[in-house]
Amino acid sequence: MLSDAQKQKLSEIKAQVKSSQVWTSIFRHDFSDTPRTRLDRIFKNVWLHLHPVRIPRITARLTHTFCLGGLTFFFFIVLTVTGVLLMFYYRPTVEAAYNDMKDLEFAVTLGMFLRNLHRWSAHLMVFFVIGHMARVFLTASYKPPREFNWVVGVILLTLTLILSFSGYLLPWDQLAIWAITVGTNMAAATPLMGAEGPFTIVSVDNDARFITLGGHFVGQATLLRFYVLHCIALPLAASAFMIVHFWRVNKDGFAVPS
Ligand code: HEM
Repeated sequence: MLSDAQKQKLSEIKAQVKSSQVWTSIFRHDFSDTPRTRLDRIFKNVWLHLHPVRIPRITARLTHTFCLGGLTFFFFIVLTVTGVLLMFYYRPTVEAAYNDMKDLEFAVTLGMFLRNLHRWSAHLMVFFVIGHMARVFLTASYKPPREFNWVVGVILLTLTLILSFSGYLLPWDQLAIWAITVGTNMAAATPLMGAEGPFTIVSVDNDARFITLGGHFVGQATLLRFYVLHCIALPLAASAFMIVHFWRVNKDGFAVPS
C-alpha cells in the first residue's frame, strides 16, 4: 500500500508528465467531463469527421500544400497495386529473379508497362515526400502542436527511403548487386552497431552489415531478406504510420504559415 506522501508524489509526477510537451503533442485533450473536452471529443473524432472540422481559409488554397502529401500517398497506393501484380511474376531466388524480370519485359503482356509504372511511381514517391517535407518546413507547420506529426513524418520519410533501397536489389542485375554491396558496406561504419564504425561493440559476424546481408556477401539470404522487407514488413509499417499521420492531421487541423 502507498502512503499518503507517496500518493501525493505520484500524482505530482502524473501532472508533470501530462503537462509536458511530449504528452500534450501526442494527446490533444483529456477525458475530463467539461463542455470543452466534450466538444473536442466529437469535433476531433476521426470516425465522425475525416477532415478537420474547421480550417483557416488560407490553408484551403491549393498553393498552401500543393497536395504534396496527398500525391505521396497516391503514389504509395499505385506502388502497392503494381507491386502486388508484380509478385505474380517474380520469384525471389538467385536462379529465377533476373530471368523473371526479363520475362516481364519480353514475355508478359504489359509486363514492361507494369514494371515501369512501379519504378517511376517509386521515384515520384521519393520526390514528392521530400517536396512535402520541404513545404511543411517552409510553412513552419512543424511547430507546436504539430511536433508529434513531424516526428511521425520523419519515420515515414525513413520508411520511404528504405522501401526504395530494398526494392533496388530485387531485379538481381549487376546494378542492383553492386548498389546493395556499397549500401550495406556503409552499414559496417555505423557507430556501435557496425564492425568498422566508431565505438564498436559487435564483431564482423553479427554487426549491422551482417544482419542486413544475412551473411558476408550479397547472396540468396540477402535477396530473400530484402524481398520480405520490401513486400511485407515495410509497406505494413508505412501504412500503420500513415494512418497515425492522417489521424493527427485531423486532430491538429492545418497550420497557418507563421
Ligand atoms: C509517406 C510519406 C507521407 C505521406 C503519405 C504524408 C501525407 C500527408 C498529408 C496527406 C498531409 C495533409 C496536407 C498535405 O497534403 O500537405 C500531411 C500533413 C503533414 N505532414 Fe505528411 N506525409 C508524409 C511524410 C511526411 C514527412 C516526411 C514529414 C516531415 C518530416 C511530414 C510532416 C507533416 C506535417 C507536420 C503535416 C501537417 C501540416 C499542416 O498542418 O499544414 N509528413 N502529410
